[in-house]
Amino acid sequence: MRREEEARRVLVLDFGGQYAQLIARRVRECRVYSELIPYDTPLARIASARPAGIILSGGPRSVNDAGAPTPDPGILELGVPVLGICYGLQLLARMNGGRVARPEHAEYGGMTLTVVAESPLFRDLPAEQACWMSHADAVLEPPPGFTVTARSRSLPVAAMENAEKRLYGVQFHPEVRHTRYGQDLLKNFLYGVCDIAPTWTPVSIIEEAVERIQAQVGTGRVICGLSGGVDSSVAALLTYRAVGDQLTCIFVDHGLMRKGEGEEVENAFRHHFHVPLVHVRAQERFLGRLAGVTDPEGKRKIIGEEFIRTFEEEARRLGDVRFLVQGTLYSDVIESGTRDAAKIKSHHNVGGLPEEMDFELVEPLRMLFKDEVRVVGEELGLPESIVWRQPFPGPGLAIRIIGDVTEEKLAILREADAILLEEVRRAGLYRELWQSFAVLPSIRSVGVMGDERTYAYPIVIRAVTSDDAMTADWARLPYELLERVSSRIINEVPGVNRVALDISSKPPSTIEWE
Ligand code: XMP
Repeated sequence: MRREEEARRVLVLDFGGQYAQLIARRVRECRVYSELIPYDTPLARIASARPAGIILSGGPRSVNDAGAPTPDPGILELGVPVLGICYGLQLLARMNGGRVARPEHAEYGGMTLTVVAESPLFRDLPAEQACWMSHADAVLEPPPGFTVTARSRSLPVAAMENAEKRLYGVQFHPEVRHTRYGQDLLKNFLYGVCDIAPTWTPVSIIEEAVERIQAQVGTGRVICGLSGGVDSSVAALLTYRAVGDQLTCIFVDHGLMRKGEGEEVENAFRHHFHVPLVHVRAQERFLGRLAGVTDPEGKRKIIGEEFIRTFEEEARRLGDVRFLVQGTLYSDVIESGTRDAAKIKSHHNVGGLPEEMDFELVEPLRMLFKDEVRVVGEELGLPESIVWRQPFPGPGLAIRIIGDVTEEKLAILREADAILLEEVRRAGLYRELWQSFAVLPSIRSVGVMGDERTYAYPIVIRAVTSDDAMTADWARLPYELLERVSSRIINEVPGVNRVALDISSKPPSTIEWE
């Protein structure tokens, strides 16, 4: 990263709030470099990073608890502007002699904020504004030297500040979209209070990631498992930019990919970017082990194991590999629980890559969200088809064939799926849908084609909208599109005589059928 940008960074101290990384990301959206660091990072390290601003995140604890997470009080004496959000505000209050207590009712949800004093945070913003609260404790009395700048109906201190010391705090969450002017408030803090110019761009993400990878890897050899998806592709390209031919990508084609997927990855990486790539054609091996297996978990287990074994063999063949690149995103990290955040669910990343292998991990996307990764991918010149690819499960088509997996069924499903995707793209709906795909249940039904009776497979169309795959709704695809897809699949794919539509949401269903 260039020197002057390094000096204009904002550090977000993580007290374990679910929105902590979102704060860092919103700051980056304001085109200011921002990083999330543990709340107890030593003062000397914080000072040496020369931040232009510090933000204290929310957190699940009470500042009044014994052992509540508290930063080094020296951060308030650095002369650097500090913005406390929720728990961060309560910390500012407590550390400066204000009173924090638990009111009778916790507050969760939207409410109206009233600005009651002039403040650089609320510059050019309306006196009444919708904001999002989520807290149990509240500041009941501001510390000496602090001015209350906003209230809500139930909160005497919804925002406060000590302009002289450049300490600011808000009880609500500006990083959450439901806070109508949240992003404007952050801009006011960053540009107005911290005096940072908005110069940080996706190019800066790339430069910074490249420098970090170089520092971590040195002259070591690196491998990266490519899946064809955007995360592993971007991680691989960043690494290639950083260390060139020290990187070898491994693409394990298990024979369960969609139509044209293997060639596309090969074209992009080997022929366009000239990244060293090992394309392992392991179809026979996977299909051999899957023969006759119908149990969904059984299929997943076999595929995971074979994947690891194939990957290990290739790594051994390359020899002397010390580093493994993974496209782990921030959402993968937070769902597995960071040190201070509550654990929501365990997340197994990257289709069964080896956990117990003796590699040091390189994770250049660890601080990014999916849409930031896509922006970086576009900036790196990845083809649109990879940057905007809908998620595809590691076990591939094997979990979209219900019943045993055979080459015949795979061929049918691949063709039907390609037709569906082609038509969805043609209708301009591909990016709007979280996923759209075909499923082949191993049942047959009777039909009539020409004068002949047929006894063939149905194809089920599954298309969902979602923000994060935790919940999903079935997509209301236009009838004309459904009609075209159905007619094309039945006419063009031998072995199919019926098309059905899955109209279930998640929960209670799941997105995939297995
Ligand atoms: P479900 O079916 O649980 O899927 O609603 C949620 C999301 O996860 C994807 N998925 C997987 N992704 N390896 C992956 O990398 C897997 O084993 C796997 N299983 C499901 C699924 O496509 C959906 O986006």
